[in-house]
Amino acid sequence: MAAAPRTLFVTSALPYASGDIHFGHLLEHIQTDIWVRFQKLKGHRVIYCCADDSHGTPMMLTAERLGEPAEALVERYRAAHAEDLAAFHVDHDIYYTTHSDENRACAELIFQRCRDAGLIFTREVSQYFDPAKGMFLADRFLKGTCPRCDAEDQYGDNCEKCGATYEATELKNPRSTLSEATPELRSSEHYFFDLGKQQAFLEGWTQKGTLQPEVANKIKEWLGAGLRAWDISRDAPYFGFQIPGSDNKYFYVWLDAPIGYMAALKKLVAEGRSQGVSFEDIWAADSTAEVHHFIGKDIVNFHTLFWPAMLEGAGFRTPTRIHTHGFLTVDGTKMSKSRGTFINASTYREHLDPEYLRYYFAAKLGPNTDDIDLSLDDFVARVNADLVGKVVNIASRCAGFLHKQHGGRLGAKIADEALWAEAQAALGPIGEAFDSGEYAKAVRLIMALADRANQYIDAEKPWVLAKDPDQAQAVQDVCTLGLNLFRVLMTALKPALPKMAEAAEAFLAVEPLTWEDGQRWLGDHPIKPFKPLKTRLERKAVDAMVEASKAAPAPEAKASAAKAAPTPAAAQEGAEAFITIDQFAALDLRAAQVLKAETVEGADKLLRLTLDVGPLGQRQVLSGIRAAYEPSDLEGRFVVLLANLAPRKMRFGVSEGMVLAAGPGGKDIFLLGPDRGATPGMEIS
Ligand code: MSP
Ligand code: ZN
Repeated sequence: MAAAPRTLFVTSALPYASGDIHFGHLLEHIQTDIWVRFQKLKGHRVIYCCADDSHGTPMMLTAERLGEPAEALVERYRAAHAEDLAAFHVDHDIYYTTHSDENRACAELIFQRCRDAGLIFTREVSQYFDPAKGMFLADRFLKGTCPRCDAEDQYGDNCEKCGATYEATELKNPRSTLSEATPELRSSEHYFFDLGKQQAFLEGWTQKGTLQPEVANKIKEWLGAGLRAWDISRDAPYFGFQIPGSDNKYFYVWLDAPIGYMAALKKLVAEGRSQGVSFEDIWAADSTAEVHHFIGKDIVNFHTLFWPAMLEGAGFRTPTRIHTHGFLTVDGTKMSKSRGTFINASTYREHLDPEYLRYYFAAKLGPNTDDIDLSLDDFVARVNADLVGKVVNIASRCAGFLHKQHGGRLGAKIADEALWAEAQAALGPIGEAFDSGEYAKAVRLIMALADRANQYIDAEKPWVLAKDPDQAQAVQDVCTLGLNLFRVLMTALKPALPKMAEAAEAFLAVEPLTWEDGQRWLGDHPIKPFKPLKTRLERKAVDAMVEASKAAPAPEAKASAAKAAPTPAAAQEGAEAFITIDQFAALDLRAAQVLKAETVEGADKLLRLTLDVGPLGQRQVLSGIRAAYEPSDLEGRFVVLLANLAPRKMRFGVSEGMVLAAGPGGKDIFLLGPDRGATPGMEIS
């Protein structure tokens, strides 16, 4: 008997606006989307909301650097993120932003209700202030000498050398990374959420099946240690919502971020696209709907302590379940820009079919918070062996015979009742596995059924039967069962592979499959000609994507790349920025003679130059002039070297200085050089 339909409100964590959508985000959104699609196939009413997390200091600084209003950036990033995720068939009902009127209204309401409930207080906080930028500094904008081991250049909260954690005020010789100025300690009033007052509530809420067991245990430890009040305000300048009743205080980005889940629904309801569900249906304290948040393990504290504590304090319902996943690694290590394994959604989709990735993530995701590894070899092998080799193979083997001998019609008879019963029974455990987040198990069960189907066809040998006119009926019977098994498989795979399932529905000439009709026999029915539903994944294409990922701007490098293309405001700034004669004198420019010029393996834009700089000896310089010069043309010629540029470690070796050239780049780049009579090492003034 089918259970009564439920109403589910589902979210993925809101990606920060200021970066690109990458594989880590995709893991989360694909995990969520598979769950959402499964619940819909089961007949439940599901609303899936997400948004950009648009507020905070990084966004403010980016806007400042680009000379663009933050509001314009908010919309630009939001649209790009929505497009990336949609390309991976992530089917949000809405992809909104936290910088919205709806979110402001919800944040103010929750804040006011919590204040009325006695959960908010203020306290003076003493914090570093950058006098040059006129702003308080978060720990990540402070650097200095480690108070424990004296390592230089360490961040304001921990030392990468010795692992110590400390307060920013303990840092020796602190400086602001924004202006290089020495920060001053200043005092300012902050708003706090009194988390300790919610201790009893949280002890109950976190231990009643809302969390995976390992997460619940971790939280138990934290609760045992006692909860500190949470600082929820930031001083101006800040990109966010001003706190009502304050003159220059803003809500900390993490206060209004989860409230963005609510605001997205509010917007969806206002647009009349919420399937008849009202805001109160989901969020009222007595709501019978379910709320499910999918998140990564790095943001567990926000979703299992602060967020439910705020909701409870404000008289809203609390989440039904927090689904926490582990971190994605690629080829066994943290995603890395230089290895080309920090892969953006936009890079991937230029090279490969998004459903390959959906399938692979499904095959790897479990119910716990273990990290998930994407091995590129395994990725290629599984997609080809499972999707192409097993599933598509069944359809392609059967369709041909039905079209050749039976006018493209499925027969009525179930040739092997036991096998068909086995297939029908399989959807039960597969569904349970999807429901409980055990996607890897679901995929294993699906592929076991695909193996059974292929074994059946191998044993019946329709290609042999087809040669004997007396066996025509047997051919139709075998292929009919084969395609019915294929239909069960595509139903089971539909949450992970919605586009492939659509193509299968078109081929089988059936209405969109639901979980229920996946188990119904399809007999005496015309089908359409077969078109390959998935083609093989070539390792070459994966390698090309990895190469492209090395070239794509890095998350941080992006900021400086943007800087290179001046916006009107920045250009104006540039025009006024004269350097002094002293600054010019600090440049050590030298004539240098090219001794050797070589191409660099793996870097098609670079040449490695060995330079004779006379009294300064020899220097190795990596220069991006490969497109403009043949190495042999350079040997013997003179160039201008900036000799006192700090050596830079690049992926292809250390570059000790920079040769000067003019031109926009690519083929149009012209090395500068003394025209006659120079000797190696001669100073240029
Ligand atoms: N903006 C916050 C979330 C606010 S939710 C109210 C944030 N943004 S994020 O862009 O850094 O991360 C968004 C989600 O992506 C988080 O759930 C995070 O765990 C997940 N991931 C980011 N990198 C990841 C991996 N490498 N692997 C798996 N998930 C990761 O946090
Ligand atoms: Zn240290």
